[in-house]
Amino acid sequence: MSFTVAIDGPAAAGKGTISKAVAAHFGFAHLDTGLLYRAVGRRTLEGFGALEAAQALTAEELEQGDLRTAEIAKAASKVAVIPEVRAALVDFQRAFARRSGGAVLDGRDIGTVICPNAEVKLFVTASPEVRAERRFLELSAKGADVTREQVLADVKERDARDAERSAAPMKPAEDAVQLDTTDLSIEAALAKALEIISAKLPATR
Ligand code: CDP
Ligand code: CDP
Repeated sequence: MSFTVAIDGPAAAGKGTISKAVAAHFGFAHLDTGLLYRAVGRRTLEGFGALEAAQALTAEELEQGDLRTAEIAKAASKVAVIPEVRAALVDFQRAFARRSGGAVLDGRDIGTVICPNAEVKLFVTASPEVRAERRFLELSAKGADVTREQVLADVKERDARDAERSAAPMKPAEDAVQLDTTDLSIEAALAKALEIISAKLPATR
């Protein structure tokens, strides 16, 4: 039986952290769909065409090297506006969502486009300043040469591009539950997510 949890929201809202913990808690599989766009974005930085890169994308590429850099995030959000690139990545995501045993997918358009029938939809948010601070701490912990100001500007620029594009823009699905993590610890945010998901789980699993 499949059970899909769709988790969307802007950069560094806590989607990945919540998704991983939810997957571990319930024994579901987890797909960070941002990695698909990041892998395609990385290819464009190497000089390849975005559509060719999306069509040729392999699961192995998602594991190779560090895709979570500021440069690749920006490249990802640029390829993500191209409808044909998005279309090339749909089947892989939907097949992942339907796997038996449950799946959590996090991204921007999971609840709206990829899995409109997901059993649970969360839209995770936090203020841009708090999100930028979280991302700044992550990037500087890895030794990246970034400033708070630059990370905040990057986050805002990417949010705007994601929300304003015409192909699968970032927005909460009508039936999504909003989870604002601005003032929540990871533990508190996770507790809320688990409560929302538990309420939707079938009694017999
Ligand atoms: O996946 P997404 O970009 O939405 O965010 P994330 O990678 O889950 O979280 C970004 C950073 O914020 C991580 O370093 C988390 O540990 C941190 N975080 C936090 O400090 N408080 C939360 N409530 C959620 C995440
Ligand atoms: O971790 P963070 O939230 O900063 O970014 P991400 O989830 O890795 O996504 C990187 C970029 O990929 C986003 O800014 C979007 O432009 C794009 N993306 C998308 O368009 N649709 C998705 N389902 C996931 C990511």
